[in-house]
This record gives sequence, C-alpha cells and structure tokens, in this order.
Amino acid sequence: MEALIQELVETYGPSGEEAAVRELIKDKIKESVDRTFTDNMGNLFALREGPAPLLMFSAHMDEIGVIVTHIDKEGFMRIAPVGGVNAQMLPGQRVIFKNGTVATIYHEKIKDRKELDWSKLYLDGGAASLEQAGERVRVGDVATLHQPFVNLGKRYMAKAMDDRIGCAVLVEAARRLPRSLPQGVCFVFSVQEEVGLRGATTAAYRLKPGYGFAVDVTAVGDTPEAPLMAVSLGKGPAIKVMDRSVLSHPVVRDLMIETAEKEKIPYQLEVLEYGGTDAGAIHLSRGGVPSGALSIPCRYVHAPSEMVDAADVRHAVTLIEKLSALQWPSTGTGDEG
Ligand code: CO
Ligand code: ZN
Repeated sequence: MEALIQELVETYGPSGEEAAVRELIKDKIKESVDRTFTDNMGNLFALREGPAPLLMFSAHMDEIGVIVTHIDKEGFMRIAPVGGVNAQMLPGQRVIFKNGTVATIYHEKIKDRKELDWSKLYLDGGAASLEQAGERVRVGDVATLHQPFVNLGKRYMAKAMDDRIGCAVLVEAARRLPRSLPQGVCFVFSVQEEVGLRGATTAAYRLKPGYGFAVDVTAVGDTPEAPLMAVSLGKGPAIKVMDRSVLSHPVVRDLMIETAEKEKIPYQLEVLEYGGTDAGAIHLSRGGVPSGALSIPCRYVHAPSEMVDAADVRHAVTLIEKLSALQWPSTGTGDEG
C-alpha cells in the first residue's frame, strides 16, 4: 500500500484541479469494481452493484493550496489561500504549480510574527520581471505545498495526507471486497472538500445512498501541549461521534463500533471540536442520509508535513471491508413520496 500512498500524495490536486488525482485513482480502482463514472463537478464514482441500501464511502481528492492574486513588475507573486491554510506556517516553504513551476514563499519585513498575514506573503519563482514570471504563471493559477513522501518506519509523512490517505484506504478496501456483497457499495472520490464539501453535496444527491461515510483525517491530541483531544496516532482509526459538520447517526456509529469490536480491530472515538468532512454534506442530502465517518488520526493537519500511522491505515481498510460485508438495515432513500 505504501507505493499507492506515495503516488497519491505526490500528485498535484488542489481544490478545483483534481483531474490528475482522479485519473490515477480510476486506473487503480477500475479492476475492483463493476463500473466507474464521473459527474459534472469532477467527482469519481467506483461502484460495486448490489441491492439497497447503497453504502457511500467518500474520500476527497483535493488538497489545500495557494492561488496567485497579483504579479508585480519584479515577478513577485501575491497569494490567497484555497482552503484552510495558515499563513504563519508558510514562510520558507516551497510550492509547485500544475506545470511544474516551483517557487518559495517569503514575507515582507515585519516587526513580530503576529503581523504575518496573507498581505505580507509573496511567492518568488526566480523570475526577474513580470514578463518572465508571466511565461510560467498567471493570476488565478494554484500551487500546492511541495514536500516528498517519507516512510519513517511505523509512520508516513507527506503533504496532502488530507485526504489522499482516505483515497488510498478506499482503493485498497475496494480490492479486498468479497465477490458477493449483501448490498451495493459506492466509493466516491470527491472534489472541493477543502472549500466547503462541494463535491460530496452533488455526489450524494446523485447516488441517493442508504448510508453515508466520510473517510478522512482527523486531528490528534498526542503532541507536546496539544489541545486536549482523545485521539492518538497508532491506537486505531477513529469512529467519529461529532465534528462541526455532523452528528454521526447512532445506527451508523453503533454498527461501526460493534463491527470493530467483533473483528478485534482497534478503534478510538472521535469528537472534533472544529472542522468537518464530506459526511457534513452527505447527511443533509435530499430527505437526510444516516451518516458517519471513519477518520485516520493525523498530526499536523494542513501543515506541509502531515503524519499518519501505518497500522491505523491498515486497520481502517479492514474496518471498511467488514462494514461493506455486513447486512445493513434498510432505509428510505429520503425522497419517496
Ligand atoms: Co482538510
Ligand atoms: Zn480532509
């Protein structure tokens, strides 16, 4: 699975520009499902046909980035965030554009760190003039963080673990599904999660799932003086109870817990006091979809080096495999008269 994770995290795919990630995933998953299709937003669906209730597992393909807002006559580029990017974390980092152009981020003179906001940051791509910069980058182009994947032994570090690790988990789970399933399963690789769960909104509307699951990263409380949180790296995937976007449906939450316990898969319970996932959009689709989320514990979410535990990733794959093989109680599609 490591090679798959590396390929996924190192592919360029900020919100709205997920095509390369989508093509990669389509290629990796097509043998494992009955069919794949995309919608007008760019969401990728990988479907195992079967009776209702359809299970929808959603991982988002997009990653955070920075968008060029202005280029001055010396070739310095001004930027704004795409998704939740912390300006204070950027100075000294490198970013890369779709065409391979690399630039470093630095800042104007400041008296103290607190003054460091988007208006003080600029990109330097080595151009000596506006004309030279313009040959490679235009206003509106988006760059992503530029950091390689590293295997640290038991843990992996990379940019865009949020949420390519979820994509990798779904691709791997699809490969392991048994030949016959009690109900249909659709793996959805959504677009534009980081800018407001936009892809999952249309994907859920189209699919009319019986149940929805987001598979995404969550924050942890296991680093020095971290805000108190009951999730740690290496203690198993986290079954979400609540975040700012969703209160997990009790049927979904409890079946996830029961299944993990029955299969002896380690798990943690997650209450995330900020942030959301695709489940926030899925559960509000049409007449409502019972939804929950399986989270991969992740340190330094939205930083240039996000860290996950390899065992948590493996256990997440197994739990999704077992959840898919389980007979789920029937639900309405939410839109019957
Ligand atoms: Co995110
Ligand atoms: Zn995410």
